Amino acid sequence: MPVIGLGTYSLPGSVCTNAVRQALQSGYRLIDTASFYGNEREVGEGVRSSGVPREEIFVITKLYPNQYSHAGRAIDEALKKLNIGHIDMMLLHHPAHNDVETYRAIERAVKDGKVRSAGISCYYVRETDRFLPQVEIKPALIQNEIHPYYQDSEVIRHIQSLGIAVQSWYPLGGRGYTGAMFGHKILREIAAAHQKTPAQVILRWHLQRGVVAIPGSSNPDHIRENISVFDFSLTDEEMTRIAALDRNEKHDWY
Ligand SMILES: NC(=O)c1ccc[n+]([C@@H]2O[C@H](COP(=O)([O-])OP(=O)(O)OC[C@H]3O[C@@H](n4cnc5c(N)ncnc54)[C@H](OP(=O)(O)O)[C@@H]3O)[C@@H](O)[C@H]2O)c1
Repeated sequence: MPVIGLGTYSLPGSVCTNAVRQALQSGYRLIDTASFYGNEREVGEGVRSSGVPREEIFVITKLYPNQYSHAGRAIDEALKKLNIGHIDMMLLHHPAHNDVETYRAIERAVKDGKVRSAGISCYYVRETDRFLPQVEIKPALIQNEIHPYYQDSEVIRHIQSLGIAVQSWYPLGGRGYTGAMFGHKILREIAAAHQKTPAQVILRWHLQRGVVAIPGSSNPDHIRENISVFDFSLTDEEMTRIAALDRNEKHDWY
């Protein structure tokens, strides 16, 4: 799985299609969507119109709890809306009382070749430890809120120690929070030292913690900027300075 992807939460209609196409043409190979975002059709359109071979692209989508009671049908609906052949990874969007049963439908879809791999989202230590012993296919990925103000280091260590990849949602803090974070003196100083932007420094920090990041954007300049993070690295001291910014401040409720 590529380590930087495009997040598509809150990107509607043609804004979404254009952002996906732009990202793929800028070198992205990972796109994150969800039934809940209402844009699987547009993501599929962006993938098909990008000119990038389908086999190079990794598309993640998710089942929302209101679909858990009819997961098999919901997976088929996602396949139809995306219309890109298979789904590379299907996640459970949230824990729920019937999540194990729902995950079994994803496991069946993996065996049937409709879905290539399975994962979960918004699972922290307790939720993960409850879930894992009950499933056959170990989730390949857990997608959780992680950014400099909510670093969740212990959860990351726990998940990584299980051999499961960690992916950050709200990698830049989430809409409405990015401006204040990008203005932080320490991030600005580190960015200036590397002639990069605070957004690029944050994304590089995720990568150096072994965390995959899926920044959301519909702005072509930002989309290009967010994948230009492979030509510099943060020093141990810079990583420590960013670690000190943690406020245990979640920007969403789950
Ligand atoms: N599993 C879950 O429960 C869950 C929950 C939330 C999100 N997600 C996933 O995680 C993805 C990322 O979260 P997000 O998109 O909500 O938040 P985010 O990536 O933390 O931040 C997106 C915001 O940052 C701005 N931005 C992006 N790149 C920038 C740059 N280089 N310079 C300045 N501003 C920049 C975007 O505005 P512009 O459009 O102007 O660039 C947008 O306002 C989502 O799209 C979704 O795929 C999953």
